[in-house]
Amino acid sequence: MLERARTKPWPASVRFVHSTAEALAENGVDGPFDGILAAYLLRNLDDPDAQLRRFHDLLRPGGVLALHEYSVADSPRARLSWHAVCWGIIVPLGRMTTGETALYRHLWRSVNTFDGIGRLRDRVRTAGFDAVHSETMTGWQNGVVHTVLGTRS
Ligand SMILES: C[S@@+](CC[C@H](N)C(=O)[O-])C[C@H]1O[C@@H](n2cnc3c(N)ncnc32)[C@H](O)[C@@H]1O
Repeated sequence: MLERARTKPWPASVRFVHSTAEALAENGVDGPFDGILAAYLLRNLDDPDAQLRRFHDLLRPGGVLALHEYSVADSPRARLSWHAVCWGIIVPLGRMTTGETALYRHLWRSVNTFDGIGRLRDRVRTAGFDAVHSETMTGWQNGVVHTVLGTRS
């Protein structure tokens, strides 16, 4: 790690841009990038397919997209885990700490109505990515939270 740092220093600067994902180009973000990570984003967008195409265009050839997202529709066990964690922990804890539940109930509902993992991988393929595959987490998130990876050729 240290050797790598000596021979391949980090870029000289990092730029932060405040923008919606849809308006990156209008805000001067044009790439090309080696990789894009979008965590818990896609489920919240009006047009996820258009966003996946934008991500594709922002990557250099060989660049990788990593989408981290809840997806439970394909698995009864995952749906049950999500229901139990939401109503047993997330919603009650949210109510206890913030006094409201609307945000946490939205989270529960938006995950329930989002793509199954197969559909999500298909979307990524349809947006032009190759070598599309997904991995899941350990513990209670197993089968509930996934990372879909795809490469721009
Ligand atoms: C569940 S949070 C995840 C935040 C962060 N990515 C993380 O993993 O901790 C979802 C985030 O997506 C943002 N978001 C929703 N719609 C968006 C959009 N169209 N463009 C960019 N961000 C958006 C929300 O503001 C919120 O911060």
